[in-house]
Amino acid sequence: MKAKPFLKWAGGKTQLLDEIMRRLPKEMKEGKIHRYIEPFVGSGAVMFELVQTYPIEEVFIFDINDELITVYEVVQKDVERLINRLAELETLFLSLEKEKRKVMYYDIRQQFNEKLADFRFGTYGDHKIERASEFIFLNRTCFNGLFRVNKKGEFNVPMGDYKHPTICDEDNLRAASAILQTVRIMQGDYKESRGFVHDKTFVYFDPPYRPLSASSSFTAYSKFDFTDDHQRELAHYYRELDKRGAFLMLSNSDPKNTDPMDAFFDELYAGFTIERVTARRNINSKGNGRGTIHEILVTNYEV
Ligand SMILES: C[S@@+](CC[C@H](N)C(=O)[O-])C[C@H]1O[C@@H](n2cnc3c(N)ncnc32)[C@H](O)[C@@H]1O
Repeated sequence: MKAKPFLKWAGGKTQLLDEIMRRLPKEMKEGKIHRYIEPFVGSGAVMFELVQTYPIEEVFIFDINDELITVYEVVQKDVERLINRLAELETLFLSLEKEKRKVMYYDIRQQFNEKLADFRFGTYGDHKIERASEFIFLNRTCFNGLFRVNKKGEFNVPMGDYKHPTICDEDNLRAASAILQTVRIMQGDYKESRGFVHDKTFVYFDPPYRPLSASSSFTAYSKFDFTDDHQRELAHYYRELDKRGAFLMLSNSDPKNTDPMDAFFDELYAGFTIERVTARRNINSKGNGRGTIHEILVTNYEV
C-alpha cells in the first residue's frame, strides 16, 4: 500500500504533486541524488510521494510546529499503540449523536490545551502517544482540518461537520510508519537544515504562503508568523544553498493572482527558473477563496 499524508494540512501539496514530480531534477531519475531535505514538511505529501518513487538513501524533514513533529515521531516509533488509541477514539466518537460528539470534541480540545504548558516536547516517551492521538483526533474532526492556535499556543479550531470522519486510518498509518523508519525527523526552524545540505541533495521548500491579500491571511500554522521579511530571508538561504551546488525547488502562492503588478517573488528569485502552475487550494477561510489559482515553482535547474 502506498503511504500518503496522515494529517489534513493547510497548503498540503496533494493537488500540486503531479506538477512537482514533473519538474524534479533529472539527476533524481539518474540516481545521482542521495539526500532529500524538506525544511517545511507539513503533512509531507511531497516527501511520501518522492521516497516511494525514487530510492533516496537519506531523508531529513523539519518543521517548526512541535505538535506536528510529535505526531511524526509517534508514527515512526509507536504506530501500533497510536492505532489502538485512535481506534478507541474513533469507535466512541462515531457511536455518539451530534451534541454528544461536540462534548467529546471540546473535552479533548480542552485537555489537549491544558497539558500544553508542562508538555515535554524535547523528550520522547509514552506521554507523546496520547498527545499525538489527541492531535490526530482533533485534526480529523475539526473544521476543515485547520491548525490554528491563539497567542498562548492553544488550539482553538471549532468542531467540523463530518458525518463519518476517518480518525484511525490504520493501513495508511502503518504504511507511513514503514517509510518513516529511515527518515530523520527534526523540530526546528528551516535554517537548521543548513548543516545537512551538500551537492547531491535535493531540497524542496514549501514555506507558509504569502497571503494573497492582507485580509486573507489564514496561514496560522504556528505561533511564528511568516512575514515578507521571512520570505526575503528564505530567498537568501536559497541562494546560499544554490552556491553549494544543491538542487532546489520552492513553491509559493503567486501574488499576481490578485495583483498582476506584484512581482515580489520574481524579484526575490531573479536569475532562477520561475514557473506558474495551476492549483486548487484545499483550505481557505472564505468559501469564495476556493477555486483555481496559480502557484509559483522556483527551481535552480532547467526543467
Ligand atoms: C505550506 S505548509 C507545508 C505544507 C506541506 N508541503 C504539505 O504538503 O502539507 C508550511 C509549513 O511550514 C511550517 N513552518 C512555518 N515557519 C517555519 C519555519 N520558520 N521553519 C520551519 N517550518 C516552518 C509550518 O508549521 C507548516 O507546516
